[in-house]
Amino acid sequence: MPSEIRRVGVIGIGLMGSGITQVAATRGFDAVVVDLTAEILAKGLARIRESLERLVQSYEKSGGKSGIPAEEKEKILSRIRVSTNREELLACDILIEAIVENEAAKKEMISSFSGMGYQRIFVSNTSSISITRLASAYSYPELFMGMHFMNPVPVQPGCELVRGFLTSNETWERVVTFCRELGKEPILAEDKAGFGINRMFIPFLLEAVKVVEEGVMSCEDADKTTLCLGHKMGPIATLDFVGLDTTLAIAEVLEMEIGPSYKAPDLLRKLVAAGFCGMKSGKGFYLWDKGKKIGVNPAVERYRRRQS
Ligand code: NAI
Repeated sequence: MPSEIRRVGVIGIGLMGSGITQVAATRGFDAVVVDLTAEILAKGLARIRESLERLVQSYEKSGGKSGIPAEEKEKILSRIRVSTNREELLACDILIEAIVENEAAKKEMISSFSGMGYQRIFVSNTSSISITRLASAYSYPELFMGMHFMNPVPVQPGCELVRGFLTSNETWERVVTFCRELGKEPILAEDKAGFGINRMFIPFLLEAVKVVEEGVMSCEDADKTTLCLGHKMGPIATLDFVGLDTTLAIAEVLEMEIGPSYKAPDLLRKLVAAGFCGMKSGKGFYLWDKGKKIGVNPAVERYRRRQS
């Protein structure tokens, strides 16, 4: 079944929304993105521009073997429109919700589109929240499902597709096709807390925090596990990359729905409470400058010394 999707609406231009928008525009879709303020939209667009610029540089360095030519960058950007007005999304064939990992905020967003008369496919990029519960906020739960992209979206080849209790066969098949049209390999999952990927991956990240918290390893040594496990990025750097606030929100959903083994360690809670959200805020377990790691956060070092 063809997806018949041409116009893609994205809600939220944060880490994930900007990546999803970039990928949709790169694959020839018209994309409209909505976020709360003009400043946030400008920051998100700048992130997309930087990411495309890196691809242009890669094209030039590799003599055209990888990346994209400079003129393609402008074409991609010309397919992207941004707005603070939700109504700009009403003409889209699919809405992809990528706002904060908070059930109440997501439900408010989803039901507002029912109220405005939107009647087409709606997907959520949630990492952990029940798709069936989110679908209950939409007047057409048969048109609702999960599309859990991986970070960074332009680089990661897979996308976890989550079927809600009431998702129709037609919606499911159209979104599977759309996923392939975006160049992503569908990874199919049912709607259970954390779906497949985060149910398996979050315990690894939380345990890495405990290893640092208990003084078993430094952040850098915990990250050297890449040398043994074949991962591209160590767990502590991954936490900073994903966002400590987002990881904490996911852990809290999983703790509530699966059990105490998903309880977030104290150090993770303290960092989030202090406003250290990882790379996006410049400080997490590490200190970051223009996307580069420049040292371990002294607050983490001090905490570790105190605990061990
Ligand atoms: P983020 O914090 O980078 O971005 C969230 C964006 O949503 C912000 O730009 C914020 O202004 C916007 N927003 C919040 N409330 C809004 C509203 N009412 N209307 C419009 N925009 C609103 O978060 P991130 O990391 O992009 O996460 C977004 C979603 O994607 C979450 O559900 C998260 O669990 C999920 N996700 C995150 C991954 C990651 O690695 N960070 C990976 C896969 C999924």
